[in-house]
Parts: sequence; C-alpha cells; structure tokens
Amino acid sequence: MSNIYLVGFMGAGKTATGKVVARRMKRSFVDLDGAVEARLRLSIREIFETLGEDAFRAAETAELEQAALSGDLVVATGGGAFSNPENRRLIRESGAISIFLDPPWEAIRSRLDDSDRSRPNWIDDRHARALYVKRRPDYLLAEIHLELSGAESPVDVADLARSALAEMQCAS
Ligand code: S3P
Repeated sequence: MSNIYLVGFMGAGKTATGKVVARRMKRSFVDLDGAVEARLRLSIREIFETLGEDAFRAAETAELEQAALSGDLVVATGGGAFSNPENRRLIRESGAISIFLDPPWEAIRSRLDDSDRSRPNWIDDRHARALYVKRRPDYLLAEIHLELSGAESPVDVADLARSALAEMQCAS
C-alpha cells in the first residue's frame, strides 16, 4: 500500500481530515509539522524565529523522506510542503497518492486569524491571500482534487477522500 498525502493551504483541514482517514483506513497518521517539531525539538514558530524558514524546509523534506520509507501512512503536510518540487518528486516517485483539499478562500480565511502566532507564514489576510494564489497551481498537481464548500466536517471530507481513492483504485 502506498502513503496518502493530504496537501493544501493552511486551514484547509489537512490534519483533522487526515486523522479521520487514517482511523477509517486503519493506517498510522503522521502530522508532518509535528514530526518536524519533534525532530528539531522546537515549535514551528521557534524554528522560524531562531533557525529560519530554510531550516524548517530542510527538516520538512527530511521528514518526507522518512515517511516515504513507510508504505501505509496518512500524512498531513504543511501548507508549503507541496510547493517544493523536490517534495513533490519524493511523493510521486514513492508511488504515493496526493489529495488536494480545496475549500474556498473565504472558508480558509474565516478559520485562521492574524493573531494566531503558531503559523508564521500567516502574516495577515493580504499576505496570506497572495501566498494562496501563488501556491494554488502547485496544489493542483495533486492526483486527487477535492473541491469543497468549506461547510463539510472532517468526517465528511474524509468520506469524500475515501470515495475518490476507491474510484481511483478501480480505474487503475
Ligand atoms: C506553513 C504552513 C504550516 C506549517 C508552517 C508553514 C506554510 O502548516 O508547515 O507554519 O508555509 O504554509 P499548516 O498548513 O498545517 O498550517
């Protein structure tokens, strides 16, 4: 079995959905940001502030390499992971499946706020929107694209993800 990677912007619901998908499919769940925090023994905010974003990205790729060694994981990536071509190649070449969770911008916006200091790349609406527009074409390279209304619960999104996976496996 190959890993399943959930990709998409901050606030898309990757972690909440990933946990449900993993539970339902009896797979282990990996939160990539959590793995990076454990590797560097610092919070995401501290990593950005003390080591810089490049160090965060290097650790993120190292954790993806680690995950690719396993074959039955559900991995929630951070919002920037799929924008790195090296990470996309790692995912693709390991035979894994990537799923883009795509709620509308307004839904994402309403879930996150400028005072949340745990997400260093969410500076304010304007910056976040520009980042979202820049990254969207990368997310669209995922194998599965789940267009969401933003009103779905993580269980709803997990069901949609599993149906799309089943369809894909039938088609292959
Ligand atoms: C980031 C998103 C975060 C985390 C880090 C950087 C980004 O993950 O990886 O703060 O650049 O979009 P979430 O998408 O889980 O918030």
